[in-house]
Amino acid sequence: MSNRKYESFFSYSVSRPFPFRWFTPGAIIGGIVSLALFTFLNFASSGYNLVVQISSNPNATLSEGNWLQRWPSFLTAKVQPTCEPANLPVNSQIFTNQTALTYMLTNVWQHHEATGEQVASPSLSYYNNVLENCSVASIEMNLESMDRSANQFAYSEWGALLRSYATCQIATSSGVVFFNLTQTYEYVPSTVSYTDIGKFLGSGFLSRNQTTRASLWWGESLMSTYWGAVTWEMQQERENKTDNHEYGIRKGTVSFMLNGSFSDIKDLKYFNADYRFIVDKGGSYYDVISPGGLPMPVTAEFLNATSEYPNIWTKADTLAKSTYSTILTDLGQTTATPNILSDATLLTYFTSNISQIEMANFKAGPANESFDDLNATTGPLRVTPSVISTTYLCQVPELKSAGNLILAIIVADLVLMQGVWQLYKISAEWYLTRRQPTANYCQGCMIMSGGELSAPSESSATTEGDTENYPLVEVSNPSTRDSTVSMHAVEEGHPREIQSR
Ligand SMILES: *[C@@H]1O[C@H](CO)[C@@H](O)[C@H](O)[C@H]1NC(C)=O
Ligand SMILES: *[C@@H]1O[C@H](CO)[C@@H](O)[C@H](O)[C@H]1NC(C)=O
Ligand SMILES: *[C@@H]1O[C@H](CO)[C@@H](O)[C@H](O)[C@H]1NC(C)=O
Ligand SMILES: *[C@@H]1O[C@H](CO)[C@@H](O)[C@H](O)[C@H]1NC(C)=O
Ligand SMILES: *[C@@H]1O[C@H](CO)[C@@H](O)[C@H](O)[C@H]1NC(C)=O
Ligand SMILES: *[C@@H]1O[C@H](CO)[C@@H](O)[C@H](O)[C@H]1NC(C)=O
Ligand SMILES: *[C@@H]1O[C@H](CO)[C@@H](O)[C@H](O)[C@H]1NC(C)=O
Ligand SMILES: *[C@@H]1O[C@H](CO)[C@@H](O)[C@H](O)[C@H]1NC(C)=O
Ligand SMILES: *[C@@H]1O[C@H](CO)[C@@H](O)[C@H](O)[C@H]1NC(C)=O
Ligand SMILES: *[C@@H]1O[C@H](CO)[C@@H](O)[C@H](O)[C@H]1NC(C)=O
Ligand SMILES: *[C@@H]1O[C@H](CO)[C@@H](O)[C@H](O)[C@H]1NC(C)=O
Repeated sequence: MSNRKYESFFSYSVSRPFPFRWFTPGAIIGGIVSLALFTFLNFASSGYNLVVQISSNPNATLSEGNWLQRWPSFLTAKVQPTCEPANLPVNSQIFTNQTALTYMLTNVWQHHEATGEQVASPSLSYYNNVLENCSVASIEMNLESMDRSANQFAYSEWGALLRSYATCQIATSSGVVFFNLTQTYEYVPSTVSYTDIGKFLGSGFLSRNQTTRASLWWGESLMSTYWGAVTWEMQQERENKTDNHEYGIRKGTVSFMLNGSFSDIKDLKYFNADYRFIVDKGGSYYDVISPGGLPMPVTAEFLNATSEYPNIWTKADTLAKSTYSTILTDLGQTTATPNILSDATLLTYFTSNISQIEMANFKAGPANESFDDLNATTGPLRVTPSVISTTYLCQVPELKSAGNLILAIIVADLVLMQGVWQLYKISAEWYLTRRQPTANYCQGCMIMSGGELSAPSESSATTEGDTENYPLVEVSNPSTRDSTVSMHAVEEGHPREIQSR
């Protein structure tokens, strides 16, 4: 003790084993339990990355991540799957998940909550909402002959461009949103390839399935067949005029509007009709044929009964009704009645003549015979709900790669385990110092305190005051490190035995 030893700025702490039997089992069991708990929690909170995914069904994408929602949200809030609504601008083309007809979105509006006034919107914010309460207000046929391209003319002298006007609603978080759709149908469009002449063209429909979507399969058959029937009749009318050396019709339009007071769709008064036909007499002389002078509202029944020129009325009426039913089916209007395509009796009636109908240089279809003949080969007639087909940008949780995951969990586990270990030790030490006043004595000090308990150096944890109050007496060999050492602590003159491992 002659020279003071060199002392570094850094120090080490002197340790003593805990004198508790429960400490080691507690540490092991607690360690395992907290390791399992922390691994689980760290897996939930940092085992996943959010990755961007394109989804066509956000509801399904979100429900795939549903198991995450059962975990406490403070852990998984950052990895919850989310999807953005799609933005469908006005004047864009859309179709439904029935993948049949194509529509143009023409107007989007909402009713102002307080005033009920219409507020127009430039686009439809769409989140896979089911189309509700759709109605078809009118169906228009624009008939043309010489104004069409020569390849269309090769298929058929006359063509018809059908436009149907529908209104639908969707229920959104900001209230009911209304929108108008315009459906355009032409069986022989200007883009048709000349090589398909005499064949079934299948234009206007994106896809068809005879068994799973039989209603729309029949709808397409009716529409294309009666498109062929109407244009063929226009050709017959032209031929008769030519034979009689009279001016024929150059173009015309027929419009069918829902009357609303008839429940039987077979009734020729189901739609009100209106029309204009233009007879080109050459040298900018025109005649316009219109229902002026006829009793209003004009119906196909009246026009057929009086054989108004051009007499296409019953065929045009069936074409309008087929289009009407096909659109309601495509828009998924399960409750809309009447609908030819969901009622076997109606479909039997409207397809009864389908195989006898004449048309120009193309085949309609896909059905070429009546429902009565083909009902065994097609699936059940039914209307299912529809949503607009579009894509959504989603962020979905994806499990990290094994290496990344293990590293992330080990690092996070280590930090937490360290914390818990410190907490356990601090509580045990606090308990110890309360129970045992000599707890802060280093083992060496206790050993040396036999007779002349030397004053501990400055760096020692114990203070002089403590040692004076609690002199210690050594009783056994200190060099045996792992042996049990018995010591007598003299506390205020009363010796006490301490078990120390
Ligand atoms: C279209 O989507 C709706 C709603 O998810 C669903 O009920 C219906 O079966 C779907 N229709 C088709 C043909 O996939
Ligand atoms: C998808 O979820 C949205 C929002 O919860 C809901 O408005 C919509 O109706 C759901 N679509 C379907 C097909 O269930
Ligand atoms: C559709 O009409 C029914 C009955 O009139 C109504 O209860 C429902 O709210 C309507 N749907 C929407 C989206 O407004
Ligand atoms: C939507 O269509 C219906 C039926 O064709 C029409 O009466 C209505 O004015 C249209 N709405 C807007 C905002 O254009
Ligand atoms: C119709 O749908 C069924 C079931 O999805 C499928 O097996 C069949 O091949 C489809 N038929 C056609 C012509 O695509
Ligand atoms: C043919 O045209 C003549 C004269 O325009 C008319 O009297 C006759 O009814 C027409 N025939 C048919 C079948 O349309
Ligand atoms: C429906 O038809 C009936 C008889 O043809 C007619 O009296 C009535 O005005 C029509 N209703 C509408 C809204 O056109
Ligand atoms: C159309 O009128 C003719 C006579 O002009 C009649 O024989 C026929 O039954 C009518 N068609 C329908 C569907 O009423
Ligand atoms: C089918 O043809 C018959 C005879 O030509 C006709 O009386 C009947 O009205 C037609 N049915 C339909 C739905 O056009
Ligand atoms: C309808 O088409 C099938 C197969 O293409 C053919 O066998 C059948 O003869 C056709 N029926 C008629 C009435 O053209
Ligand atoms: C097809 O129609 C016939 C005659 O209407 C009927 O006897 C038969 O049961 C129908 N078959 C199916 C599968 O609907």
